[in-house]
Formats: sequence, structure tokens, C-alpha cells
Amino acid sequence: MSNSPLLVTCGLPYTNGPCHIGHLRTYVPADFYVRYLRHTGNEVVFICGSDNHGTPIVISAEQNGTTPRELSEKFSEHFDSTFRRMNVLFDRFGMTDDPTNHNRTKEIVQSLIDNGYVYEKTISQSYCPNCEMFLPDRYVEGVCPYCGEQARGDECDQGCGKHLEPGEIKNPVCKVCGGKAELREQEHFFFKLGEFSDFLESFLPNLGGTTNARNYALGWVKEGLHDWCITRTLDWGVKFPGHDDLVVYVWVDAPIGYMSFTEEWARMTGGDWEQFWKGDQPIIHFIGQDIIYHHCVFWPAILKGAGYKTPDAVVASGMVKIDDKTFSKTRGYVIWTNDDYLDQGLPADYLRYYLLSYTSHTKELNFSWQIFQDRINNELVDTLGNFLYRTLHFAANKLGGIPAMEPETEILSEISRVLESVDYEMNRYEFKNAIDAMMGLAGFGNSYIQNNAPWKLIKEDRIAAEQVIRNCLQIAKAATLLFDALLPEEAQKSWEMLGYTDHVKEHAIDDALVGFEHSDLPKPSIIFAKIENETREQLEIIMNKRIGAAKMKEETPKSEQITIDEFARVDLRVGKILSAEKVEGSRNLLKLQVTIGDEERQIVSGISDRYEPEELIGTNIIVCVNLKPAKIFGIESRGMLLAAGEEASLLVPKRDVEPGSRVC
Ligand code: 2FM
Ligand code: ZN
Repeated sequence: MSNSPLLVTCGLPYTNGPCHIGHLRTYVPADFYVRYLRHTGNEVVFICGSDNHGTPIVISAEQNGTTPRELSEKFSEHFDSTFRRMNVLFDRFGMTDDPTNHNRTKEIVQSLIDNGYVYEKTISQSYCPNCEMFLPDRYVEGVCPYCGEQARGDECDQGCGKHLEPGEIKNPVCKVCGGKAELREQEHFFFKLGEFSDFLESFLPNLGGTTNARNYALGWVKEGLHDWCITRTLDWGVKFPGHDDLVVYVWVDAPIGYMSFTEEWARMTGGDWEQFWKGDQPIIHFIGQDIIYHHCVFWPAILKGAGYKTPDAVVASGMVKIDDKTFSKTRGYVIWTNDDYLDQGLPADYLRYYLLSYTSHTKELNFSWQIFQDRINNELVDTLGNFLYRTLHFAANKLGGIPAMEPETEILSEISRVLESVDYEMNRYEFKNAIDAMMGLAGFGNSYIQNNAPWKLIKEDRIAAEQVIRNCLQIAKAATLLFDALLPEEAQKSWEMLGYTDHVKEHAIDDALVGFEHSDLPKPSIIFAKIENETREQLEIIMNKRIGAAKMKEETPKSEQITIDEFARVDLRVGKILSAEKVEGSRNLLKLQVTIGDEERQIVSGISDRYEPEELIGTNIIVCVNLKPAKIFGIESRGMLLAAGEEASLLVPKRDVEPGSRVC
């Protein structure tokens, strides 16, 4: 590969929720690709940042009692640090709400206006008479006019996937109050996307990247393009030039973030951002396949219309499934990068390996902890790790270091063949094939050491045994250099065990064919630790609990409405637990003595599998005191304490209150 410097970008995550495996499906391959490009002598600028505008962030901020800016800063920092923990290292991680992006967006929108690509039009838009506001994008839900499925205001997310223009959605309902929305007229601004059909029809066949991106986009262009409403009635966003009551649609200023963050990178480093956006240097976008339309249709048209260079390649990753079920945060079919993975002490490189080696980049990827364990143990541990350890251990312990001889020609030819194959696959974004070729080299090394048995050979012919190990050391060096882009932490450990004191990432991949200038080797250790069954089971429990809790939530319909007087009939009081003991012979019952101020009550509760009796004594709890007495396991119970969820988590007053105080 050549043509450097190149600009590589990753789709910008919205700042309204934490990083999950679906995000990583795009960012990890992009990082792998960038690291590989650098190993092959290319200069690369790797850019990302957070997507701060749009209604999901405004709604989320409202729900969390914060501002969209504060929420964006929090999640921007979260994504930046989580990506670093995953060894995904950007040269610049920006924010679309920062001034550079406001300025660049205004400049681009003004250019589109000046070049005659924007017009004003009165449209009917969803309006909530109860909330007295227009309902842009996700503020409104209803029925998709194309397929009849339930849809959001700007996108048919559960049906045909089509982008919906303001006012298009049928049976609109306000997301804030749940009331019926009506249509009201308002002035908006439209981008003449339709005028770019001819341009896109000639641009798309030559667009590099993956075929899914090219083909889907060409299909949409052939179906016919509609002009695109690029303004929204919102406070949060980039103001539309000359109209302070309108902001530009988030899908205008979000991709412009790629350009703004390149400018910010240039400012920080003294680099040149125009060589990519106005010159000839290549731009490669890594995205998820759900946003192909935005990157292959809207975005090139905006750039062309405003007089900028268009992207050279779009690389679109397939979706993620969890345990063969559709990825869903609400139903619990999700792996959260920090909580479920990194904070459980699992190495970032193991997940990188899974994400890149499981399936072709454009295909659907299924994640399960069982497959995770199998692949790590069989491939990273038993094939790569085993080969490295056997080689290094024999060389250090039996030969005292690296034998002073050259590797044999057949070994160098095998390494060359693998280098070529990896390069070929990387050039076509077939990352799984590239990794299969790398793992093939480790497999070759394993068979080679096994077939030549240096541990036996050394007894008859020391020189021949040294040659075998010298050959293996060359394979180990090549494998370490090749795997560095994929497993940067573990490859560095292996590099140091090969006796190097510098950074493997600074070496060209072609060093795989170059010998060693040193002979000393440190004492080797195991690089890849196995995933034990207990660990896998623990991880499965965490996931299954979440899925179970989500199911319960889904299956517990909200009860019918009651009046405040009806609610007041339930007498809830603060009680203090005076004593607690297990009920002999029962599975989970505790007998409690509770004071509710002027009176002491005996209450029997099914919580002994969740709490030890001693930990409860002195705890203030909430008791329903006017429930009719009942006999539980033959013991009288006068009242009921309140607990939540599967965990039977006891409800306790936040501040200290007198027992007997009324709860309302
Ligand atoms: O779909 C998303 O998550 C968007 N936040 C991606 C934006 S990518 C780019 F265009 F900014
Ligand atoms: Zn409303």
C-alpha cells in the first residue's frame, strides 16, 4: 500500500449512552487497518469524535436532568477513554458541538446556499398542541408511510429502514406527553439532493471500500432521490445561517465533524488538513452498515455541492448479534465494553481478536461467551501462544539465546507468502482472511517444531536443532510483527521476549524477513492465558441476569390508573428492624420484629436468600401496615415490607426518619 498520507475516520458515536460491542465492530477494525497501514510505511491520520447534536441527546439530557452539552461532554470523555482502553488510538477525538465544527458547518451550509443548492419551502410538520412545540425527528413516533411498521420521526427503525422527512410519519404521537400530534405549517430549508443523482451515479461505481456500501447506495440513487430537509426547530445544534430559530439537521453537521476534527488535528500538530479535503490525499470512512445512506449519498453530495473533495472509500461493517439474537439494549442482548468486558479483567486484545477474526467485515457477527472462550483458547492460546512459548522457551533454556545462523530459504519463502497474502486481504478489507493467514503462519510454526522435534534432535545433532529453533525464531518474529496491528499489547510482550527493547509498532512489517542483531533472550513467560470455564460461566450469568430482568420489565404491564385517594388507602410507614431470624425448614423466609413507632409488628418476608439476618438489624425500611394479617408457614405476619426487582432490593429512606413516619 502507498499513497500516504491517508485520512481514516470512524463513524461518530452519539453522546447519549455508553460504548458497547456494536460500536466496537467498526472502531476495532478501523484501528487494526490504521496500525497495519503504518506498519507498511504509510503515514495515517486517524480521526474520530462524538456526535453531540440531534433530538436523542436533547431527550436524554431532559430525562437525566442535565444539559445536552454536559451530557455530551460526559459521554465524549467516556468514549475517548473506552477506546483507549480497547487500544483504539485516534490522533484526534473531537466533539461536534465545539466551535471548529460550528464554524465549518456554517461555512459549508453558506456555500451550499451560495451555490444554489438550498431552497426554502413551507411544510406540514408534526406539532404537539399540548406541549406547544414542533416535534422534530425523535420527538415524534408513529407509523411508517412506506411499510406500515412502527417508526421514529426521522427513520423507520423497526421496518424498512427508510429515512423519513419531517411531516411524513403517519398517526404521529408526541414522545414527550404521549398525546396525539397534529400537522402545522412551518418554513424550512431543503437541500437539492435530487440534483446530485447524475454525479452520484458516476461517483459511486468508483468509490473504494466494501461492496455493500457501494451497491446499497447505487440502488437508492437508481430508485430516485428526494430533496432533503436540512433544518430543524430546536435550540440545540448549529444555527442555520440567518435563522436563529432553526438549527441544521444533525446529519449535516455530524459528518462535517470529520473535517473539523482534521482541522483540529492540524492545529495541534502543525499538519495540513486541506491536503485531504481540498487536495488529493485519500479519505477512508469506516462506518456501520446502518449509516451507508448518509455516508454514500448525503455526504458526497454535500461535499460536492460545497466545493470539497469527496471520500475515496467507505468501509461498512455488518451488524452484531448476541447469542444469535438481534442486538438490543432494551432486551439485554448487548455487551457493554466497560461493565461486561474490560472491568471484568478481560484483555482488550482478546475482544479485538474475536471481532476481527470471527467473520468477514461486512457480514453479521454473532457474539457468545462460549464461542469467545473456544476461539481464544484454541487459537490464541493453543496455536499462537503455544508456538511462541515453545520456541522461546527452548531457545532461552536449551540454547542460551538466538543461534548465530540464518533462517533457511523455505522458511523465508513461507513468511513471504504469508506477508503477501495478508497484504492482499488488507487491501480489500477482508480482515478475517488476513488474520486467518497470520494464524496460518503460527500453525505452520507449530507443525514445523513438532515435526522436527528439536528436543530429540539436540541429543544427536546440536547444529541441526539450532537451525530448527533459528527458523522458529524467524517465524515468531514475523508472527509478532504481523499480529501487532491486531493485538498491540500482547505483541509488544512477545517482541520483548524476542529480546527487543524498543516498540514493535515502530518496525516495518518487512522486518519479518530480517534476522536478529542480538543473541540474548530474556526468560520467557506465557503470553496468552486461557479463559477458564468458571470465568465464562460468570460472564454468562451477568448477561443472562440482564436478559431476565429486561424480560420481567417487558412482561410486567403497568397497572391501570388509580386516583390519589385510592393510593392514600395504602398505609405505608417507615419501620425499623429490631430483630431477624431464619424460619426453620423454609427456603427463604425471615421472621422480623419491626417497630413502626407506637407499635411493634411481626412480619414474615421471603428474603433470606438475599440477606443475612444480622445485616438487617437496625435498618429502616418501608412497611405496608394496613395489609390484612396472614399466616405464612404457620407464622402470623402483620404487614409487608417493600422490595424491588429480582434482587429483592429493600426500599430504604434516603435520610434518617423516625419509625412510624408516613410515606406518601
Ligand atoms: O449513527 C450514529 O451513531 C451517528 N452518530 C453516526 C454519525 S457518523 C458521522 F456522520 F458523523
Ligand atoms: Zn406533547
